[in-house]
Formats: sequence, structure tokens, C-alpha cells
Amino acid sequence: MDYEQDFDFENRLVDTNEIPEDRIEMDTDNPLRPKTLSEYIGQDKVKENLKIYIEAAKQRGESLDHVLLYGPPGLGKTTLSQIIANELGVNIRITSGPAIEKPGDLAAILTNLNDGDVLFIDEIHRLNRSVEEILYPAMEDFAIDIITGKGQMAASYHLPLSKFTLVGATTRAGQLTAPLRDRFGVILRLELYSPEELSTIITRSADILNIKIDNEGALELASRSRGTPRIANRLLKRVRDFAQVLNNGFVSLDIARLALDKMEIDELGLDRNDRRMLEAMIRFYNGGPVGLETLAAAIGEESVTIEDVYEPYLMQIGFLQRTPRGRCVTAEGYRHLGFDFKGTNSTAVQPNLFDN
Ligand code: ADE
Repeated sequence: MDYEQDFDFENRLVDTNEIPEDRIEMDTDNPLRPKTLSEYIGQDKVKENLKIYIEAAKQRGESLDHVLLYGPPGLGKTTLSQIIANELGVNIRITSGPAIEKPGDLAAILTNLNDGDVLFIDEIHRLNRSVEEILYPAMEDFAIDIITGKGQMAASYHLPLSKFTLVGATTRAGQLTAPLRDRFGVILRLELYSPEELSTIITRSADILNIKIDNEGALELASRSRGTPRIANRLLKRVRDFAQVLNNGFVSLDIARLALDKMEIDELGLDRNDRRMLEAMIRFYNGGPVGLETLAAAIGEESVTIEDVYEPYLMQIGFLQRTPRGRCVTAEGYRHLGFDFKGTNSTAVQPNLFDN
């Protein structure tokens, strides 16, 4: 069986990466993005602390300390950085690790910032080393040293910068180098959202988009959104289509269920790809332990995607465990997929799984 053929990468509704459709216009104009901390739903601990840090920095008339936001994709790291800038009353410049190719690119960005401004670098773990090295003195001393020319013509310039705030975002804090991580004064971890929080977000989004939805419909969508607002908002837009054609535009519990079933997203938000990964683990590796790279090769997926996109939610709902020897499917995972769990991850089960 060729797994890659069967994986529907293009149309993965529960993809946590941002796709163009997620932004109604461009980035900052997305009307679903909350603009203030009080509009931002969930992440209560992060919000409480940020509120204090922002208030304190404003009272002292200083720039906010550099902030690192980390956690799975789609939880609102970019949104939060825009809120930070908005609450501080400063401008924000948004870029990403892979977009900054050369030290000169970063120098150009840094020298254009004003006092207090926020520089947001998404996927900051993907900065290349020579760029990252410019960031150290910039973060610590608000200055950069630029060397021009070679040999006898070489000259070094010490360039002072405005006192900016770097907000870095990453899905993998463990991949940051120690010198970079140590330069962040504030490190905040975003968690997957509860169905209740997602339901509130969906109701708010429906209101903004003029979609009629009741509490039951919103909660149904919420519980199938993998703890991720980006997915919740995307599913809301798809379910709206079903509601429009079949139910006068009203998203009821029945319509939400019907639409999500049609999209093959199950009651817990797993799509075909999640189920196939778990099934492959059970069928080919007796439920594990199986190493990440082995699993990635078996299902034709990048190991980073498995780690960043598939695993956080499957671990959160208790279907997957990471052990020192590799990944294992839990008894609950077996049960959800309709397999018998023999207790030791050692018994191959149910052939013919992929033939139905
Ligand atoms: N839209 C996306 N994430 C959100 C959040 N955390 N709060 C409110 N609206 C959102």
C-alpha cells in the first residue's frame, strides 16, 4: 500500500500551518484576530503575566524585555505579538527566521526600528548562525557591529540601535541555542486550548463573520478542532458552507456533525492522516515503540511535521506516548481506532485494515 498516495496533504483541513485562506485579507487585517489582551480568549496564565510585564514597562517608560513564545503551531503566537505591540502602543515589524537570509538583512531591519518597537521573528529556531550572531549584541546591548571589506580594507562599525523588544516565536524551544534562549527575559509557553475556550473563540468568530451558530454547534466544532484556534476558524468557514446550502445558513449541532463527518474529521478531531499514522504504528510496529525517523519514512511524512503537528494533540488526548525507546500508541488510541489492545504493544492486530 502506498501511503503517500493516500495522504491528502493539499487539503488537510486540520493542518495547523497557516494557509492563505486563513487570512481573510492580509495578516494584520484579519478580522478574526483579537487586538487586545482582553479580547484574546484562553492562555490565561500567559495573559496574566504579560499584562503585568507590559504595564510595568509602560510605567517605567522602558521597552518591554525580549519575549519568547513557544508551543505548537496555530495557537496564536503571531496574534499575541501584535497584541503586545498594540498594548504597548508601538509599531511592529513582522518577519521570520527563514526570511532573514544574511546578516545584512537583519541589520537593515534592526536599524529601521524606533525606540520601544516590537520586532517579531516567527520560527526563530530557523535563523542561520551568522544571522543569529548579530542578534546577540542587538538584544543585549542594543548595538550591532558590522564589518565591511576584507584584509587591509576591512573596517568595523559599531552601530547603536533603538531600544526595541524582540518577540520570538518557535514550535520547538529545545532547538534554540542556549545563547539565544538566555537573552529572552520573558519565556511563555502556549498550551492547546480546551473545547470550552475554542467554543468561545468560534462563537466570537461566527459573530464577526455573520454566521449563525448555537452553543451546541460551536461546542461540536470546538471538540473537533485539535485544541487549535486556527483549525477551529477554518472548520467554521467550511461548516458554514454546509449550513448555507442545507440549513438556511444556521450551524446547528446536526449540521456541524454532518459537515465534519463529510470532511472525515472524527469526534476527536482526528483526520485520515492522524488515523493512518496511528494505524501504521499498530499494524507495522505493534503499537510501538517506534523511532520517529522510522515512522516518518513509513508514512512518507517529514519528522518535524509529525513532531510539531501530529504529536502534540495525539499526546494531549492520550493516544500517543513518547518513551526513550520511541513512540507508542496507548490503549485509548487502540480503542479509538477499533483495535484490541493486548496490553504490551507486542501483538500485531487486525490485518485488512487498509482494505475497507
Ligand atoms: N482567534 C484566534 N485565536 C484567538 C484567541 N485566542 N482569542 C480570540 N480569538 C482568537
